Amino acid sequence: MTTDPATPLAVDQFIVGLQPALPDDIVAARARSEAAGLPAIGVSSEQGRFLSLLVAATGARRVLEVGTLGGVSALWMARSLPEAGQVHTIEVEPAHARIAQENFSASPHGARCVLHLDEAAKALARWVAQGVAPFDLAFIDADKKNNVRYAELALALARPGSLIVVDNVIRSGRIIDVACTDENTQGARDVLSWMGSHPRLALAVLQTVGEKGYDGFAVARVQA
Ligand SMILES: C[S@@+](CC[C@H](N)C(=O)[O-])C[C@H]1O[C@@H](n2cnc3c(N)ncnc32)[C@H](O)[C@@H]1O
Repeated sequence: MTTDPATPLAVDQFIVGLQPALPDDIVAARARSEAAGLPAIGVSSEQGRFLSLLVAATGARRVLEVGTLGGVSALWMARSLPEAGQVHTIEVEPAHARIAQENFSASPHGARCVLHLDEAAKALARWVAQGVAPFDLAFIDADKKNNVRYAELALALARPGSLIVVDNVIRSGRIIDVACTDENTQGARDVLSWMGSHPRLALAVLQTVGEKGYDGFAVARVQA
């Protein structure tokens, strides 16, 4: 089966058109991020809805995000949290964190987003050492070369039943191209291999196409 490369994007636009208008705070957060020159590497509308749906379906109250950018995915997740729920999101770039904080301040769901300006591995290791309450869902979407480290730390911060979601694990299929050794692709391969063989993780990997090209999510449930 062959598919015109333009079709997945057109289908994404069709699907978005079938649904209620995008939330105002998401539209505004994207516009502010774009105006500030942040890279367009955040989740698509449907990927954001999927994350929001995962938070709602799992009844998550404490969400962890590694890689905030302008805060768009954090806001998608925050909107499904109960009043006392929180998304703890970690960002190392001050310029990204500043825009994310502006986006949170402008959103009716932003009070549930707690931004940590820090190196993700350091923040996560500190939380493990401090014994913070477990997270119900973790979304890993930062520097791909450290995916395994983030997944290990997310597992240490999880409880049985928590979900760990890792973005960008297919990379246009490059993960099966042995000639492709760039650190992002290697980071995707490594985390799939680690998650797929971990005795405490039940893993499903979903290939996706659309606005963000051909890529995919790894979704794992933490077992007892
Ligand atoms: C793909 S973007 C995140 C997109 C965001 N999750 C969304 O969908 O709206 C990755 C972000 O991770 C941040 N990042 C990269 N390395 C990091 C690190 N070591 N610690 C924390 N954040 C990091 C980058 O600065 C960038 O803003």
